[in-house]
Amino acid sequence: MSIFSGKLPGVGSSIFTIMSRLAHKENAINLAQGFPDFSCDPMLLDLVEVHLKGGKNQYAPMAGVPALREILADKISSSYQQKVEPNNITITSGATQALFTAVSAFIKPGDEVIVIEPAYDSYVPAIKVNGGVPVFISLSAPEYNIPWERVRAAVNDKTKMLIINSPHNPTGRIIKQQDILALEKLVQEKEILILSDEVYEHLVFDGEKHESVLQSDVLKPYAMACFSFGKVLHATGWKLGYIVANEELTESFRNVHQFTVFSCNTPIQYAIADYYKEKVYLSIPDFFESKRKLLREILDQSRFSYLPAEGTYFQTVDYSSISAESDFEFACRITKEHKVASIPISSFYHNKKDEKTIRLCFAKKESTLERAGEILSKL
Ligand SMILES: Cc1ncc(COP(=O)(O)O)c(C=O)c1O
Repeated sequence: MSIFSGKLPGVGSSIFTIMSRLAHKENAINLAQGFPDFSCDPMLLDLVEVHLKGGKNQYAPMAGVPALREILADKISSSYQQKVEPNNITITSGATQALFTAVSAFIKPGDEVIVIEPAYDSYVPAIKVNGGVPVFISLSAPEYNIPWERVRAAVNDKTKMLIINSPHNPTGRIIKQQDILALEKLVQEKEILILSDEVYEHLVFDGEKHESVLQSDVLKPYAMACFSFGKVLHATGWKLGYIVANEELTESFRNVHQFTVFSCNTPIQYAIADYYKEKVYLSIPDFFESKRKLLREILDQSRFSYLPAEGTYFQTVDYSSISAESDFEFACRITKEHKVASIPISSFYHNKKDEKTIRLCFAKKESTLERAGEILSKL
């Protein structure tokens, strides 16, 4: 093999890059990529300035700024009724790095990792670059329920890890108490690691509550949960997140983390530590639920139908009464001809399973959603 051949040949650009690029080229409203088009809290920006100007500009400790890990430990302990120590938390460069490092820390060539699809796009490359083998469990619209019997049946001697994500991108579905029970049963029978992507933990609506793997004593020895400040603070560009796991798993995680990233942005960690004293994240569900309400009211006037979703800032919609095109063709055409960009759900499946659904991001100003709504309701 040529010395020039890399470890992930042919992965190409992510669908988020493709659709955002197209949105930009076509001057379309971007409901594709998951980022807010509004600013974060000025108080938070002031705190960043305080710490930037106050000299907090050198390397942070490898695991993260202690003040931040302390406040997170308190937050987690009160949210999930489980004692978590600051030393169980490692600050990362976004959830993407937490996920990648967690996979790198444990997955050796030939290890199998169960991935539930549709799946966020970073999981599979992380597995493959480490020589692991993704094993797919495919969910279906509109319910996207996890078939635990099929998950159980997919576990064999080579299975090392299961990746789960709730609230789930792209479907917006959440796992419930019965899913946590199914996970507990699984690890008791099969002993596998659980990597739980919980970046949308605060974006849960309809009076539902986020079920974290952190709340279970049974899952504790097996589970790592990762989170993103980008989603909570409306600051996806800061790329800061964290991972929570017991001591043993944390040690293995940090063995890789310290030689890849070592430590993350110092002044922003101090700023978030101060900002979290206000428990601002508690207002997030209402803030986003009103945006989802607006988007759904708009969709009610259209030929799109929306699928059940209790979380995240995404709404999956079915366009089958408008067109028979593939979801990729439909999403591209709507971006070019009607100037609203979305993400085709098939891009979250390894085999591009097409159920005539697209994902719309409602983390946008009301005026943006209204402008997009006016267009979508005419299709
Ligand atoms: C499900 C999921 N996991 C992880 C991430 C990455 O988070 P971060 O931006 O903190 O790396 C995202 C971002 O969109 C996501 O939707």
